[in-house]
Amino acid sequence: MKGLKTVYICSECEYESMKWLGKCPKCNSWNSFVEDVIDLSPAPAKKLSASMAAASGASATHFSELDFPEYIRSSTGISELDRVLGGGLVTGSVVLLSGEPGIGKSTLLLQICDCLGESKKVLYVSGEESSGQLKLRAKRLQVIGSSLYILTETNIENILEQAAKIKPDVIIVDSVQTMYSDKINSSPGSVSNVKEVAMAFINKAKTEDISIILVGHINKEGSIAGPKVLEHMVDAVLSFEGDKRQSYRIIRANKNRFGSTNEIGVFEMTDTGLREIVNPSEMLLADRPSDASGNCAVCTLEGTRPIVAEIQALVTPASSPAPRRTSNGIDYNRTYLILAVLEKRLGLRFSANDVYMNVIGGLQINEPASDLAIALALISSLTDKVIPDDLIAIGELGLAGECRGVACIEQRIKEAARIGFTRALIPHGNLTGNLSVKGIELIPVKNVYDLLLYVKKQ
Ligand SMILES: Nc1ncnc2c1ncn2[C@@H]1O[C@H](COP(=O)(O)OP(=O)(O)O)[C@@H](O)[C@H]1O
Ligand SMILES: [Mg+2]
Ligand SMILES: [Zn+2]
Repeated sequence: MKGLKTVYICSECEYESMKWLGKCPKCNSWNSFVEDVIDLSPAPAKKLSASMAAASGASATHFSELDFPEYIRSSTGISELDRVLGGGLVTGSVVLLSGEPGIGKSTLLLQICDCLGESKKVLYVSGEESSGQLKLRAKRLQVIGSSLYILTETNIENILEQAAKIKPDVIIVDSVQTMYSDKINSSPGSVSNVKEVAMAFINKAKTEDISIILVGHINKEGSIAGPKVLEHMVDAVLSFEGDKRQSYRIIRANKNRFGSTNEIGVFEMTDTGLREIVNPSEMLLADRPSDASGNCAVCTLEGTRPIVAEIQALVTPASSPAPRRTSNGIDYNRTYLILAVLEKRLGLRFSANDVYMNVIGGLQINEPASDLAIALALISSLTDKVIPDDLIAIGELGLAGECRGVACIEQRIKEAARIGFTRALIPHGNLTGNLSVKGIELIPVKNVYDLLLYVKKQ
């Protein structure tokens, strides 16, 4: 083991330390240090840079002579996934699919093998499951796999050797954390192994025009276990989200060199695999309670798609001197801010109460346009006045308690009207002369006083 040194590397920012540390001094992450072995002899460094040699020796071209790129895209057979990818899987691209264990990454990737296989040869490399397990799953998912090759292997050198024989058009690597390279002395999943393995696959993709999908597990904090640099190296990062106790799943593009990062795909996990959900609003509202205080519907935009969801608040007398605040599906800071505005501007006594917030169906709402619905749900629970089931609230709140206009208001109202809402509270500023949607009454709101008055009238 001469020339080898054991170090500890932060898997978030690659800070290196001789000792294990609980907290990273550079990026402040907790428990992010993993043991790694680095080779002090100069050879591996050269090998690493050699893998990037394709880029060196290039000559400059005048801008006017550059061609527009022509992306060749293949449909995965799942239109929700195609949309998130920007219109299908791009030939020669490297996509990282990340998600918690058990969320459905392997299921989704096996499901797309048949459709991709219509025009392409697919190699599925599994470092996590045996070929028998994969065969069983494929049967359950009704995947025929006429152009599908399965390889259960974790050594990257062997995988590349097999790939050279099979000559696939698409390689699925499940997962990048189980793979290792002979060139690296540390264990699979370590920062240096994950980087080396990813680099080798990226090189393969770029030199031979192969599409590669890397599966990456994420840790509890939501970041990809392994270095963040992985996200910089690939062309697209898709994240697979959802509450494992519930059946719906969302795929989001966090990065995409070949398309927008605004799109999401919505799925439901069934025993025959992931099923696309074309109208997520209906599904999210399926279990909404009626005639209960503390509930209010909102229409948020996920990318270009309006989605109606129900926000719930439960306000109860505080059980301890320090009142509890929990928030599920809504950013804590947003909840705190709205509580503070309501307390200050309307004199409502939330500080003497515990407050629990939730979004039905497990959707994560990150948009200020949901402020009005959050505020209404809070006021409704505190005053025990029911918000009507056919009412939706859309709008952002400012610190002075004013209601601000939001983007794409008409699109949101239309979606609400489509699924049967008949009244919408909207920002005063959004109510221009020609805004009207059939079947839904528009009620302008200037500030939180208007909100309180509206609730009191119920
Ligand atoms: N026999 C089965 N019947 C129905 N659903 C199953 C079955 N086996 C697994 N699943 C579902 O598939 C999920 C596992 O998905 P998987 O694709 O293996 O996740 P990942 O690859 O992200 O770890 C389980 O959480 C479960 O919901
Ligand atoms: Mg898996
Ligand atoms: Zn760090």
